[in-house]
Amino acid sequence: MRFRTLDDADLQGRRALVRVDFNVPMEDGRVTDDTRLRAAVPTIEKLRAGGAKVILLAHFDRPKGKWVPAMSLKPVVPALAKVLGYPVAFAEDCVGKDAAAAVAAMPPGDVVLFENVRFYPGEEANDPKFARALAENGDLYVNDAFSAAHRAHASTEGLAHLMPAYAGEQMRLELTALNRALGHPERPVIGIVGGSKVSTKLDLLKHLVTKLDKLAIGGGMANTFLYAQGHDVGASYCEKDLAETAREIIRLAGQNNCKLFLPLDVVVAEKMAPGAPARVRDSGSIDDDERILDAGPETVERLCRAMDNSKTLIWNGPLGVFEMPPFDKGTVAAARHAAELAKAGKLVAVAGGGDTVAALNAAGVSADFTFVSTAGGAFLEWMEGKALPGVAALAQ
Ligand code: 3PG
Repeated sequence: MRFRTLDDADLQGRRALVRVDFNVPMEDGRVTDDTRLRAAVPTIEKLRAGGAKVILLAHFDRPKGKWVPAMSLKPVVPALAKVLGYPVAFAEDCVGKDAAAAVAAMPPGDVVLFENVRFYPGEEANDPKFARALAENGDLYVNDAFSAAHRAHASTEGLAHLMPAYAGEQMRLELTALNRALGHPERPVIGIVGGSKVSTKLDLLKHLVTKLDKLAIGGGMANTFLYAQGHDVGASYCEKDLAETAREIIRLAGQNNCKLFLPLDVVVAEKMAPGAPARVRDSGSIDDDERILDAGPETVERLCRAMDNSKTLIWNGPLGVFEMPPFDKGTVAAARHAAELAKAGKLVAVAGGGDTVAALNAAGVSADFTFVSTAGGAFLEWMEGKALPGVAALAQ
């Protein structure tokens, strides 16, 4: 897919409407993780350097078309100003008089953040009227919100059809990295898919077995696969009604020459609690009152060897209950190994999805991965092979 990028844009004196993703973690009105704010900096700086007015459009949370003061974007302003190192203006509305006045008052090179676009029902409905109201404040549109590109909303999709549309720098980075991991990867390519539920990742698994050379399944969802193969999973979380689906995925993997890695051994405990006494068991030799909470050392060792013999890794979802030591060990060990290989230039290691990023941060290895996506749901949909409306609308 080809896109216009900011290198192709005439920016001087232009009003750039920039869709960013500032749906950031917030506690008591303070931003607690500014990753997504930092991700927007290269695009903002490029626009300023080119002499554009930078008008930021974003959503926060899910106000469902209502004005919900607790979901205002205003608390993001000081955090963004800190990241940028200069003041950022705020407009109390994203359309209408207040928005227009804020844009008229700003000199080229300044930055303004508009209030939450989701305060209007037209945003999620992708209402052309609302998109036109947004468009009144811009001469060009830049989408830098890959992580919201799975939404066909007015500010993520509709606007792209109303004025010259460009991919921002973060959007470009995400698309390049994801293409390197799954579009045209250097082979062999291995995937790690973890997390608790098979039910949320069915499409993902079915798609990945047709694309990857190897796929390791971990986390709670591996229990369903073990159960489907006739193993006892004791008191573990397990979606028993999906056993046939799991067998179908195993068959599909075989038909597509994708080698599946299911846990050889597991870490179990009677209680899912921090510091609960843990034991290692072979998969299938589990007592009735035991719960599987992490991948075992042999499983992790085999996974690390499989990474050694791969050129590309794509990772979504932890291998165990990583938030709760000691059940973080499998995820942390595998993440560290992937990071070492990536740092040594031996592996292209790409990861994404909310939990995954938190797990890599907890392991302290994000910086050594080749690329860590800022996206949660969008990363998953992209991994499922779906076209993302926000990306498709940018295609030339
Ligand atoms: C995200 O945080 O993943 C994106 O901003 C999308 O948010 P949404 O799931 O509320 O559309």
